[in-house]
Amino acid sequence: MPITPHELIANLGDLPPVPRVAAEVLRLSADPQATAGDFHRIIALDPALAGQVLRVSNSTAFGLMREVTTLTQAITTLGVSALKSVVLASSARTLYLRGTVGPEERLLWEHALVTAVASRAFAERLGLPHTEEAFVGGLLHDLGKSVLGVKFPERYGPLLRAVDEQNGACLEREQEAFGFDHAMVGEALAGQWSLAPGLQAAVRWHHEPLRAGLAHRKLTAVVALANQLALEVRAGLGDPLRLEAASRQAVDILHLAPGVLARLKTDVRAAVERDQAMIAEF
Ligand SMILES: [Fe+2]
Ligand SMILES: [Fe+2]
Repeated sequence: MPITPHELIANLGDLPPVPRVAAEVLRLSADPQATAGDFHRIIALDPALAGQVLRVSNSTAFGLMREVTTLTQAITTLGVSALKSVVLASSARTLYLRGTVGPEERLLWEHALVTAVASRAFAERLGLPHTEEAFVGGLLHDLGKSVLGVKFPERYGPLLRAVDEQNGACLEREQEAFGFDHAMVGEALAGQWSLAPGLQAAVRWHHEPLRAGLAHRKLTAVVALANQLALEVRAGLGDPLRLEAASRQAVDILHLAPGVLARLKTDVRAAVERDQAMIAEF
């Protein structure tokens, strides 16, 4: 009988709690009335995060002529939308990079960030609503891998390396080793954190977007395409060809005519390139 997310959590023991700042920002992000002042209050509580916001607003990506030195200036410079991305990415970073950080964790994090930027770029170019949700979906899609790495440090690192070196199938190897895979673990975590249903679907079904509920299928498809694109630009571990089936499902869901995907990908790659400076700040 397949293992349920509930049983999975019981088997895994304690899961990391959602960081307080991230929970607050997720809540504010969903609130159209949220102002820069609301974000200011939250960010000011976390000195490391405030420092990161300052660094990003000073980064070349935003081409400023003068140095930004206060949080208020930084928030005005970035604007609410970019600010949300920075805060969410910073919170997600602490989730991906926990404990002793090896090369796999770094690659997982880099992959998450590039997938996030690419997800948003796909969503924007396809004219989908909730582009910010696409960013968060991309950011969190492989969080299950991070949980597996923390829970099973001796087994999961070598598994990821083997997947990379032998061009293996990640989900199958996880199933063999643990009886479940990182998408299932991610779903359990997302459920425990009460993330929005669309985000839960994107985390659970990024390898099989056609199985996501109808209301969340486009979001999941966008994350699936971005996931493959991230590997194509060499952010992360694994062969992008392994994600061909997921991408084909995404193309069906988004009704992309032949040739459209290639053009779209060129655009999205350019967007990822442009956001590289921000990415480098993390
Ligand atoms: Fe994945
Ligand atoms: Fe991924």
